[in-house]
Amino acid sequence: MSNSTGEAKRGHTRQDTALMHGLSTTEVQKVWEACDEAKSRAYCPYSNFRVGCSVLLTNGDIVQGANVENAAYPVGTCAERVALGAAVVQGAKKGDIRALAIATDITPPASPCGMCRQFIREFCEQNMPILLYDKDGRLVVMTLAQLLPLSFGPEALATTDELAVPR
Ligand code: THU
Repeated sequence: MSNSTGEAKRGHTRQDTALMHGLSTTEVQKVWEACDEAKSRAYCPYSNFRVGCSVLLTNGDIVQGANVENAAYPVGTCAERVALGAAVVQGAKKGDIRALAIATDITPPASPCGMCRQFIREFCEQNMPILLYDKDGRLVVMTLAQLLPLSFGPEALATTDELAVPR
């Protein structure tokens, strides 16, 4: 089965994605275009592995990130953390992030590294969709909880009030 836009090639059709996660078809298209464009600006002379990321905020803004490598290899940063950091600096708070999308040049699509999954966990709901695009724009959708089950998050930590010793 395919339709006029050839969506049957994709892991999920864009319409499925919209229905499953409350994103509109237009929003899915926008996050796809934004992560694909961000990928073109990756700085990855050492790995030659381009990663683009886009983050959709509740106010409709889309924030982009790409991997930025460094001659001192471990200093390089993943696309997801660049995008999320930029979103936070732009004013995004916990609960303001509706979706995160990632584009690479491989198939099946790459999924976020462990460090990025934990970084995402800090700011995003467990059921937030993470859209993974392969080299041809084919889409697989996972939730954060699927990618990082039994996760550790900020709510596990005591607040300074709770730690205060009564006098
Ligand atoms: N990379 C990302 O940007 N995101 C991931 O989730 C996995 C890996 C980057 C880091 C490095 O610049 C290149 O991909 C190869 O590991």
